[in-house]
Amino acid sequence: MGLPHIFDDGTQTRPLKVLIVDDDPLAMFMTSSMAEMAIPGMAIQTAACAQDAFDLFAADRFDCVLIDYEMPGANGLELASRIHALDPAVPILLCTGAGNETLAADAIKQGVSDYLPKATLSADGLRRAIRDAIDKARQAHLIAAQRKDIEMFAFALAHDFKQPSRQLVTFAELARQEAPVADGSQLDQMLQFISAAAGRLNRLVDGMMEFMLLSAPPPLRPVEVDAIFAGICLALQDFLQERGGVLDLVGSARVMGHEALLGQVLQNIAINGLTYNESALPRVEIACAKVAAGIEIRVCDNGIGIDACDVDRIFEPLVRLNGREAHDGSGIGLTLARRAMAAMQGTIRCEPRPPPDRGTVFVLMLGDAAANSDLAA
Ligand SMILES: Nc1ncnc2c1ncn2[C@@H]1O[C@H](COP(=O)(O)OP(=O)(O)OP(=O)(O)O)[C@@H](O)[C@H]1O
Ligand SMILES: [Mg+2]
Repeated sequence: MGLPHIFDDGTQTRPLKVLIVDDDPLAMFMTSSMAEMAIPGMAIQTAACAQDAFDLFAADRFDCVLIDYEMPGANGLELASRIHALDPAVPILLCTGAGNETLAADAIKQGVSDYLPKATLSADGLRRAIRDAIDKARQAHLIAAQRKDIEMFAFALAHDFKQPSRQLVTFAELARQEAPVADGSQLDQMLQFISAAAGRLNRLVDGMMEFMLLSAPPPLRPVEVDAIFAGICLALQDFLQERGGVLDLVGSARVMGHEALLGQVLQNIAINGLTYNESALPRVEIACAKVAAGIEIRVCDNGIGIDACDVDRIFEPLVRLNGREAHDGSGIGLTLARRAMAAMQGTIRCEPRPPPDRGTVFVLMLGDAAANSDLAA
């Protein structure tokens, strides 16, 4: 028997398998008949309750699942999330008799591919919905696979760069010690340049590796900003003393995040605030406040400031606004910060401080741990 021709481009190489879940026998008969008409030859299995559907899916994977929203015991969205826990990529279509906008929005937010009102269901509509959902899932799978390949390649490259760049630093140092090089001579200067360049290369490679490692989202937990602040003060003790700078915390908050990552983000921003700063008393203030969308952390400095036209650009890799002679940064700190915030389902943006104040504000948004009290307990 020929394959059901859902994809005209010939990418479908085996019969499609669809699972239809509905507790109402008449509705089930209608949806199944329509599906048979929509895609002749498609393998259809049915389940009359959520548990049967889950067991069938656990035993035998499907290309697409059609779920009735209202079933006794569990609603369709709950079943969809249980199935997605087994296979996050499988496309799920939610059918319902009593559709409304909120339900559709909720369904899509929870990863359901589409929402089909039973009253207007047709063979053509079903065919289109199944084809689009499978097509989208395939493309997402392809993009994820390509991204993984690229990341693996970049990770391997960064890893292999490490050894030669460390050797450059070591051997340039050894050469300065071993060879009879007069301090300040041309050869001495050249060896120092090699050391400095190799040091920068090392930092870039480290940053690149950190960036790669951030592609896997960390587990999010309630995190106390006070505790993170105490850790940063300790880590920056010498730096603060050297610069004669001050680091302050105003208010406290419990956010959904990852302690090490958030610590790194805040520390990077604090170092920037104290480094790109020509005030007599460099100051960085971290202030937490509860807002409608979660917890807002504002990191404010009295430094040299950033022009409004640069506030987005500074998050791009390797962007540095000041000459190397002023500050020897790699231009990776904020790129890592943005990626770390995204991994914690948060955001970061930069704003110039409104006059008459000088300086910069970084605004971080994270989930409020108090709103996830079951996790916060
Ligand atoms: N608080 C700030 N005030 C003024 N300029 C800043 C501030 N923070 C960042 N910048 C500018 O943005 C650029 C990018 O910052 P980023 O932290 O990404 O890299 P970096 O500090 O140069 O190097 P590193 O990777 O070592 O952190 C900096 O080079 C600097 O020009
Ligand atoms: Mg920096």
